Amino acid sequence: MSNNLDKLKEKIALAHKGGGDNRIEKQHEKKKLTARERVEYLLDENSFEEIGILVTHRTTDFGMEKQKYYGDGVVTGYGTINGRLVYVFAQDFTVFGGSLSETHAEKICKVMDLAVKTGAPMIGLNDSGGARIQEGVRSLGGYADIFHRNVKSSGVIPQISAIMGPCAGGAVYSPAMTDFTLMVEDTSYMFVTGPNVVKTVTNETVTSEELGGARTHATKSGVTHVTCANDIICLENIKQLISYLPQSNRSTPEKLEYELGNEHREELEGIVPDSSNKPYDMHEVISGIIDSDSFFEIHKDYADNIIVGFARIGGRSVGVIANQPMSLAGVLDVDSSKKAARFTRFCDCFNIPLLVLVDVPGFLPGTDQEWNGIILHGAKLLYALSEATVPKVTVITRKAYGGAYDVMNSKHIGADFNFAWPTAEIAVMGAKGASEIIFRKEIAEAEDHEQKLAEKEAEYAEKFATPFEAAQRGFIDEVIMPKDTRRKLIKAFSALENKQVLRPNRKHGNIPL
Ligand code: HXC
Repeated sequence: MSNNLDKLKEKIALAHKGGGDNRIEKQHEKKKLTARERVEYLLDENSFEEIGILVTHRTTDFGMEKQKYYGDGVVTGYGTINGRLVYVFAQDFTVFGGSLSETHAEKICKVMDLAVKTGAPMIGLNDSGGARIQEGVRSLGGYADIFHRNVKSSGVIPQISAIMGPCAGGAVYSPAMTDFTLMVEDTSYMFVTGPNVVKTVTNETVTSEELGGARTHATKSGVTHVTCANDIICLENIKQLISYLPQSNRSTPEKLEYELGNEHREELEGIVPDSSNKPYDMHEVISGIIDSDSFFEIHKDYADNIIVGFARIGGRSVGVIANQPMSLAGVLDVDSSKKAARFTRFCDCFNIPLLVLVDVPGFLPGTDQEWNGIILHGAKLLYALSEATVPKVTVITRKAYGGAYDVMNSKHIGADFNFAWPTAEIAVMGAKGASEIIFRKEIAEAEDHEQKLAEKEAEYAEKFATPFEAAQRGFIDEVIMPKDTRRKLIKAFSALENKQVLRPNRKHGNIPL
């Protein structure tokens, strides 16, 4: 008996050493934490319970039977983040480069299954050389088992991936199917085919960092939602992100205690400039509305003509979608439509109410946009917002023109409360463009074309570049003073708390993917 106790102690000590001191040192030299250090930092102190610490691979090819490491290159188990249960796996680069063997995959699948059964978020910390080369197709099968679980878990539990080292080949598709992907700058990359293959096939010369580093995926591809300067910041971001989310689709996000007080925010009054063509920063509107410092921005550096992120309003977790007049005048284009559509669908899956702030001049014109499918991608956002059954509230701060008015959570597609500031302009298009079309003859016949155009523009603006026509028709529920917005929203989201929508039975809709 005591023999077995000693054996157990010895095995656990070996498991804790991963691939050994030298490889741990190498990991630290690269400014990376080890898998165990990451798990320890992520979870509440002493809350981690490991599953499968004694698992080893079963391969005998290439002399592998002589190289066995307890845990087989991945640390798996459960613990808590601020008291809330989460399941986690962390790939251990010190063991065969964190590569994925059949047993490594089985360990990951085991915790993924438990996460779904118990309704708890699944967090994957990726740091791996990909398929365990010595295992061939067994490893590929292991990946596919994980992919299949990613899909089955989608919309049931939040799935979060952190890329904290290499992630290449088909391995990228597991993070891609999770809800959020965070990447660590300079030490992580993701690509389907690496620089060498790229050189061979297309003759392009590119570094790993340029091809698939954190900045590339944050700005160009949108594959990553959040980039982080180092491992610690990445793990901190995961903790913060989790705080806005429910455990699963069976629950709602935690609501922090909040008592209504003086909710007037004078600073909101002066944000929209007098000239409707002048930009302003929609972040200022967001911070004037939400609980202080509660904004967690998603996809910050991608398609910045739209802002998406989580915030709290009166202690309640909400998803914010907002046009950004500072970038491309807040226009909707291919990338911003995809970004906002995906965020909308996440919030809808997980019972997170939506706040949509509107200042949109329309869709971006041009061959680039048309040929890249703005019709299809714009439709994604329209579909997603229309389909969402969570509480949906809109505030139009300035422009809501044309089709973009309909798309941006209008009353007609199912928004529950639609507010507009007195500065709102709800119209088919801007006053100048509209006048040039409908008064073309009058303007052409006038002695002074410019003066006539200005006159007609003013006439059109007076009638339509306001929120009043829409309010008269009930498309806007209330025109509100900017300073009252926060109070209105706290009350609106509270009133919508028990919203229920029944939909006709169907397998699933057919969102234009
Ligand atoms: C087995 C691997 C491995 C792998 C790395 N190692 N990748 N062992 N299978 N895929 C081992 C190395 O032999 C080495 O062992 C240790 O991990 C650390 O690797 P290094 O090369 O020393 O580290 P580094 O210089 O940091 O380079 C990391 C790396 C490189 C860029 C990831 O190791 C690499 O290119 N690996 C191969 C990547 C690859 O082609 N994977 C298969 C992709 S296809 P020792 O004993 O020396 O410490 C794929 C398909 C998935 O993944 C399909 C899913 C559907």
